[in-house]
Amino acid sequence: MDLKQKILQILEKNRGKAVSGEEIANILSVSRSAVWKGVSALRKDGYDIVAVTNKGYCLNENSEELSPQGIYALYENCSYEIEVIKQVSSTNSVVKRYAQQGKSENYVLFSQSQTEGRGRLGRRFESPDKTGLYMSLLLRPKMSAKDALFITTSAAVAVARAIDSLSENGGNSKIKWVNDIYLNDLKVCGILTEASMDFESGGLEYAVLGIGVNVYHSEVFDSELKGIAGGIFKSEVKNARNRLACGILKELEFCLKEENRKEVLAEYKKRSYLDGKSVNVISPKESYPADVVGIDDEARLIVKTKDGEIKTISSGEVSVRAI
Ligand code: BTN
Repeated sequence: MDLKQKILQILEKNRGKAVSGEEIANILSVSRSAVWKGVSALRKDGYDIVAVTNKGYCLNENSEELSPQGIYALYENCSYEIEVIKQVSSTNSVVKRYAQQGKSENYVLFSQSQTEGRGRLGRRFESPDKTGLYMSLLLRPKMSAKDALFITTSAAVAVARAIDSLSENGGNSKIKWVNDIYLNDLKVCGILTEASMDFESGGLEYAVLGIGVNVYHSEVFDSELKGIAGGIFKSEVKNARNRLACGILKELEFCLKEENRKEVLAEYKKRSYLDGKSVNVISPKESYPADVVGIDDEARLIVKTKDGEIKTISSGEVSVRAI
């Protein structure tokens, strides 16, 4: 950690409270002018740090900058290695490359924005600056390729829980099979898990769990995504992105554990957005209207076709039909 990051660590731990320049200088064994320089650099990076007369420096409670220090300050005994960068093509692409180079699991990369955010089925995921949370977590789970779907479903529950614990409306987020989180009928989060198989063992070599959350409303939701995507919060929420990032990581720690799978799957089913809805099932082979019956123990979608036939779907896409 460089000096700037060390100063930020102290200020994040004391968010909303002033810490004197002298105290920071003593803790870090540097001069007061070095502290002043570090604080100026942090301000340039966007941190809202005020100098309180006779008291010292104070990181504003509302400061919205996402940082490892901001997340660690909220997360005791955090075992993730967290990195935050300003911009990237796609966090999933970068973490996949790291995975191939042998990076250890539990590394998580956040980016303030993405220029080529990717969604499922080759789609683009709009990732504007300031309004979202874009992250990819590297996992090296001991599981068969067949069970890889549970990474996505467990992550959906983890994100839904984290969103609900911060939501103004008490939280009522739903999961649209298989990987989207909906709040008030708008998509607020998408999840993309990309895995590589180890052909010798038949298990996973690694998985990159990519999560994109629309924290605030963005202009892109007013045009091509109107009526489709939305933000979790209508107005500014204190330290929203660090708190949400911390909430997601903590919930992932629980939801990804194999021993919790039963509980997590039950919650996944309970949160199903599609239950009882009329949908179009779209697969590479065919497309047909159906009614959603529920989700089975393999996290597959159960639908009833117009002929009364019950089908279970493990991949593909489902769109809600307008009535
Ligand atoms: C979808 O909606 O189909 C999935 C969207 C997943 C978006 C996240 S944002 C972080 C990570 N990096 C990407 O390029 N995609 C995922």
